[in-house]
Amino acid sequence: MSASWWKKGLGDVPRMVCAAPGPKSQELHARAAKIMKGYSSQVKLFPVCFKEGFGVTLTDVDGNKYIDFSSGIYVTTLGHCHPKISEAVAQAAKTLMNCHDFTTPVKTTLLEKLVDILPRGLGGVQLYDSGTTAVEAAVRIARAASGKSEFLSCFRDFHGKSGHAVSLARMNKTNGSGRTQGFYMLPRPDPYRPLWTLPNGAIDTDAYFRFYDEFILEATTNQVAAIVLEPIQGWAGSIFPPEDFFPKLRKWCDAKKILWVDDEVLTCMGRTGKFLCAEHWGVTPDIVTLGKGFGNGFPVTAVVCREELKESFEKISASTSYGGNPMACAAALASIEVILEEKLLENAAMLEKFFLKRLAKMKAAHPIVGDVRCKGCLMGVELVKDRATKEPFDEAGKLVYQKAFAKGLAWIPAGHILRMSPPIIMDEKIAGKAMDIIDEAIGETEAELGFKGGRS
Ligand SMILES: Cc1ncc(COP(=O)(O)O)c(C=O)c1O
Repeated sequence: MSASWWKKGLGDVPRMVCAAPGPKSQELHARAAKIMKGYSSQVKLFPVCFKEGFGVTLTDVDGNKYIDFSSGIYVTTLGHCHPKISEAVAQAAKTLMNCHDFTTPVKTTLLEKLVDILPRGLGGVQLYDSGTTAVEAAVRIARAASGKSEFLSCFRDFHGKSGHAVSLARMNKTNGSGRTQGFYMLPRPDPYRPLWTLPNGAIDTDAYFRFYDEFILEATTNQVAAIVLEPIQGWAGSIFPPEDFFPKLRKWCDAKKILWVDDEVLTCMGRTGKFLCAEHWGVTPDIVTLGKGFGNGFPVTAVVCREELKESFEKISASTSYGGNPMACAAALASIEVILEEKLLENAAMLEKFFLKRLAKMKAAHPIVGDVRCKGCLMGVELVKDRATKEPFDEAGKLVYQKAFAKGLAWIPAGHILRMSPPIIMDEKIAGKAMDIIDEAIGETEAELGFKGGRS
């Protein structure tokens, strides 16, 4: 199973040598924050200053050592500073740093390897440097391939922070008010908060497709190039689709001649226990975006498309300055090799079983836990004020985040949904310690907010 390089010097984590954020963290953050604005809520709620990361741990400048339960922001899926990946990047940095989109031996090997590990039929690749640029390229490819110009996306999806990517997501004050013309949003099925249900109370996936049909007729000019969506909604709080949604979406797209763009920036490369999350449902998208874990920390992303669409890359002036640079290709190739050599998809699947058991116990013990979900190492715990009304409990989310961080768990807040994305290399021992911390933090939050909870 998973190799044990990350256990070197692991000691007893978490190890908190002072109350965090400690004095050095506070001082360095205050200096940086005078100059840099626009920090994420993750930082604002716990302004710690990290010094190093190794495997499944992060250490701050005051010497506190945390269990990493966020992988950066879903990025370092294989842990921090994997020796093979760090060595591959260092070697590339010493050899050749940029040669535009000329190929190199490593790039050619990466392209072949990538096509080899992804579902059959996905045969065209272009490399980029962020999830957002990959999404932008996917939009342009879909236009070029279909000759159509309109796009559908889904409520609460997230696809990045530039023009088209923003138009594929919620319009709010951070995104600005102008959605690009021809971009439309649709509801997608959320089993915990369904819009349409069957008489037995189960979510009615077909009702969503009936709505999509009506929507295309009434709201678009019937020039829909593609529907762009995340397989599991990450930013929104690890919201999972019903099992029948993507198989039905595949058929619906084929019938409507609409391309399916599967944004796997967050879910790819083992995060959910498969190279692509879509593989869980046995379906293959037309266009896929890869990011985050693809380079395990080095900024490298990709757009992959079906064999028969790949000539469309020729129509969009596809190359960029940094896309597929030698260091990026080295990081991506080494990451794929590590996943295969260390059998990390299997490890993620093993961890999923463990996490599901612990999450079920948490739900049974804590009245403010409304829903729990997990695939591979992508988890969500939804906190509610009342299980019957399912009213989101933002205040509890914030408190649990801060309490767990102070106990030594570095992770990601998302309002009332606790989002977890630990590195897939860990074992049950470390995973169990992290779950104990979350459990304790929820219990303490319940006590503080006047709920009768306990420990699972
Ligand atoms: C599904 C998805 N698509 C696209 C992006 C944008 O990626 P980046 O932040 O690398 O530009 C993200 C980032 O979180 C994402 O989760």
